[in-house]
Amino acid sequence: MNTFKLAVLVSGRGSNLQAIIDSIEREELDASISIVISNTRDAMALQRAKEHEIKTIFIDPAKHIDSKDYDKALTDKLKEYSIDLICLAGYMRILGEEVIQTFEKKIINIHPSLLPAFPGLNAQKQAIEHGVKFSGCTVHFVDLGVDSGPIILQTVVPVYDKDDEKSLSKRILEQEHHLYPKAIKMIKESKVNLNGRIVTSNTV
Ligand code: GAR
Repeated sequence: MNTFKLAVLVSGRGSNLQAIIDSIEREELDASISIVISNTRDAMALQRAKEHEIKTIFIDPAKHIDSKDYDKALTDKLKEYSIDLICLAGYMRILGEEVIQTFEKKIINIHPSLLPAFPGLNAQKQAIEHGVKFSGCTVHFVDLGVDSGPIILQTVVPVYDKDDEKSLSKRILEQEHHLYPKAIKMIKESKVNLNGRIVTSNTV
């Protein structure tokens, strides 16, 4: 049987990467991580991958003259591994056209807000400062905009009066760790249909 091959793109701590690894190791998610790619050399996520004997690559932004050149290197690497799905997990670099068009409908991201509210950086801080009573996390397909692609799954999290950015981030992150493997599993099992920007899922 063909394995469903993932690439996970990371920049930092890698707790979402860990959640995907754990889900595979518990045999809840029938997939394998072929490669973990980082744009930061010392990302803790790379350590986590190595501990599970997953191949890692650091693509150094300093070695590429511009973002187009960087994207080409990234695209070539992803092609080399015949990847079925690319998962951005705390990847803090904007993907360029070449990557997005080459892997159309095959790139997903997790974001710590209920999109379309609070895209971009510091989503949890934006939510606190806006005074929303609920926030959450979103898994979505990646398109050419920032956190603007079709929404696959969301989880709602309450925001309490006593919350600050840290406590809200922690509550959202716990949910991210369930939501991301669940979304990957649904895609792997062909339970996600995309019509324009509307995602429907044939799960009961
Ligand atoms: C997660 O909260 C993820 O949703 C967020 O970065 C964190 C990465 O944590 N991503 C974004 O804000 C993307 N716009 P992790 O490295 O521990 O998975």
